[in-house]
Amino acid sequence: MTIMKGSSAAAGADLLRVRNLTVTFAGRRSATWRRPGAVVAVNDLDLDLTSGETLGLVGESGSGKSTTARAILRLLRPSGGTIEAAGFAVGAFGRRVPLEYRRAVQAVFQDPLGSLDPTKVIGDILAEPLAVHFGLRGTERDRRVATLLDQVGLAGHHLRRYPYELSGGQRQRVSIARALAVEPKLIILDEPVSALDVSVQSQVVNLLEDVQERTGVAYLFVAHDLAVVRHACDRIAVMYRSRIVEEGPADRICEAPAHPYTEALLAAVPDPDPARQRIQRTRRREMRATAPVGAVPAAGCPFASRCPHRMPVCTESFPDWSPVTGGGRVACHLHSGSPTTPEET
Ligand SMILES: Nc1ncnc2c1ncn2[C@@H]1O[C@H](COP(=O)(O)OP(=O)(O)OP(=O)(O)O)[C@@H](O)[C@H]1O
Ligand code: SF4
Ligand SMILES: [Mg+2]
Repeated sequence: MTIMKGSSAAAGADLLRVRNLTVTFAGRRSATWRRPGAVVAVNDLDLDLTSGETLGLVGESGSGKSTTARAILRLLRPSGGTIEAAGFAVGAFGRRVPLEYRRAVQAVFQDPLGSLDPTKVIGDILAEPLAVHFGLRGTERDRRVATLLDQVGLAGHHLRRYPYELSGGQRQRVSIARALAVEPKLIILDEPVSALDVSVQSQVVNLLEDVQERTGVAYLFVAHDLAVVRHACDRIAVMYRSRIVEEGPADRICEAPAHPYTEALLAAVPDPDPARQRIQRTRRREMRATAPVGAVPAAGCPFASRCPHRMPVCTESFPDWSPVTGGGRVACHLHSGSPTTPEET
């Protein structure tokens, strides 16, 4: 997808640098049910992203992906850690996020119907950011709107349509065009294709790749399964129950996963080889049977209750990071010590 493919960008991350990010939600209460106690949605998380690169953030439902995305977008205030993005120290923002930051870091969410104003036609939806951020008016603005529409593969007549009149894929194209309108450096894509049919998913992912080649924009691509992000990402970070447990070049993560949880996620991606399909079916059954309940354990590896390789040490201490041959790192006691290849375990 970009020149970064196969490399680890952590050393030279110039666009996004997240350190020790922690987000804790107070327990929710309602008239009919109560959930006392705080939820640690994101725990001590580091992320790096270089200009023009795509980083996948992958994990099951509830692992903390959207919370991480929302913290970077400053839609919520973290409990701890630092975020530097596009040259801004996000923690220093007051109640009002600077317009320049909103311009540099844009977002596309899973449900475009929810994020596009239903009372406005597409032409007005795309014109608005051009007026707010660049002060464009009249024919100059119309010309730019037409270019944006063309860039995302929509025809001119869509300008007069309302969001509900478009298909899911077309609406997501509008969301991408709206994000592109302000020429961002980074777009946070939170499950941008999860609600779309499989055939439409690949069209939208291809569009995102075309856009990146043309504009050099970077993506943080949030998804719950590896099948979607595998080919679109340069690097992948795998998140499990509030923590990143493995990260590295996308090819290495998908071909030689080091963490047992990454292996389990890969088992959800259909393999053409019948022998491997059998292994995958067994692994999927195991994962379903051991779905986590309750709070994340205070000590030890968060995956310990589901892990087929669990050892006594796994429930005692959270594993340190270990480098992985082929790039990246893993937090798993199987790999503690010197760099290992996943096959050695
Ligand atoms: N506003 C909130 N108040 C309380 N708890 C929350 C809130 N938002 C998220 N959580 C909790 O934080 C945890 C992480 O949620 P998050 O939405 O970040 O996960 P996710 O990885 O994006 O999942 P999904 O794949 O379902 O979108 C979950 O346990 C969730 O219930
Ligand atoms: S640390 Fe232990 S329980 Fe956790 S993934 Fe590694 S082997 Fe499994
Ligand atoms: Mg989410």
